[in-house]
Amino acid sequence: MKVSEAVERRISARAFLKDPVPREVIERVLTRAARAPSGGNLQPWIITVVQDDKLDDLRARVAAKMESEGPDEMEYDVYPPNLHEPYRSRRFGVGEAMYNLLGIERADKAGRLEWFANNYRFFGAPAALFVHVDRKMGAPQWSDLGMYLQTAMLLFQEEGYDTCAQEAWGRFYTLIDRFVDADPQTMLFCGLSIGKIDQAHPVNRLRADRAPTDEWLRFL
Ligand SMILES: Cc1cc2nc3c(=O)[nH]c(=O)nc-3n(C[C@H](O)[C@H](O)[C@H](O)COP(=O)(O)O)c2cc1C
Repeated sequence: MKVSEAVERRISARAFLKDPVPREVIERVLTRAARAPSGGNLQPWIITVVQDDKLDDLRARVAAKMESEGPDEMEYDVYPPNLHEPYRSRRFGVGEAMYNLLGIERADKAGRLEWFANNYRFFGAPAALFVHVDRKMGAPQWSDLGMYLQTAMLLFQEEGYDTCAQEAWGRFYTLIDRFVDADPQTMLFCGLSIGKIDQAHPVNRLRADRAPTDEWLRFL
């Protein structure tokens, strides 16, 4: 597969088949993805893979916490407060496009919340990973995490697997940190669902649009 093909084909998959992802595939992809560049070659990504039975166990614990205490406060702001234009409309646009495909109206708050909770089941994926980062690291190193993640997502494409990066997991960081025995010096950035995409599920027909280049690209 050409890089351009992998870039074109990658989408955030939000419904997966149960087919397991062989450990060798995950290991190969995650090892190769570490060729991603990072400022000063710090390689600030810290990755924990959870799959199969262990993942089912985690899903059950998250569901129990959701029922009892509810989610945590996020440790970081996923978006700036009072998200401004043009970002606000872009965020709104992708949400509406997704809920339209799912046939869940804007007024159906409960339906939307119920769908959103699929995040906390890794959308049914058989494998997942968490990305942690040392708390002392700043914005440049957090951007390096993105380099790693995109490289991994493209390599999973090449292997025939789809993914969804999920900041939503920040709402369960205390449970996750305990579950994966995370070093307290690190904090959770996001999760990543990994598996075979369920092509029949309407949510996976979403092709999130992109702003026209004249909104963000200039040649001097
Ligand atoms: C770091 C990161 C975190 C994300 N978190 C979530 C999430 O919690 N839940 C979700 O459904 N999608 C999440 N997404 C997916 C974005 O919504 C998606 O990338 C964007 O809408 C563009 O769509 P595409 O990935 O299909 O091209 C996340 C993406 C990134 C890069």
